[in-house]
Amino acid sequence: MEKSNFLLLLILSFGYLFHPANAVFMEKLADRKICADKYCSYVISAAQALEDYIASDCRFINLKKGQMIYVYSKLKPVDGAGVFWSGNVYGERYVDQMGIIGYFPSNHVNETQIFMKKTIEMATTEMDFFCN
Ligand SMILES: *[C@@H]1O[C@H](CO)[C@@H](O)[C@H](O)[C@H]1NC(C)=O
Repeated sequence: MEKSNFLLLLILSFGYLFHPANAVFMEKLADRKICADKYCSYVISAAQALEDYIASDCRFINLKKGQMIYVYSKLKPVDGAGVFWSGNVYGERYVDQMGIIGYFPSNHVNETQIFMKKTIEMATTEMDFFCN
């Protein structure tokens, strides 16, 4: 293959990977967040869903009453909006959703166990609200 053809192919491939149909940057829910570490890679706490929650778009996850959730970050509330945390559901039931991290309203859960007492506050990024 000619070098220029190869480059064109490479550019087209990247265009496909980052095509809006596959990946969407959604509006930020908040400008600041609290996490256990700078990558939000540690579980801050465990919580239990107090009621069902239906995700309104791809930034959020569904919750079923009684489900356990691992919390990875807590957004700093914006005036007039709800308080949102991010996390994933774990347990034997609703296996289809396991592993998917998304936001949910904190008033729908009861935080039952704190794993990380020390947290840090930082700015949110576009990647925090990236859907694919
Ligand atoms: C929240 O969890 C605690 C500890 O498990 C429990 O004692 C309490 O009753 C729960 N609160 C609600 C509203 O379910």
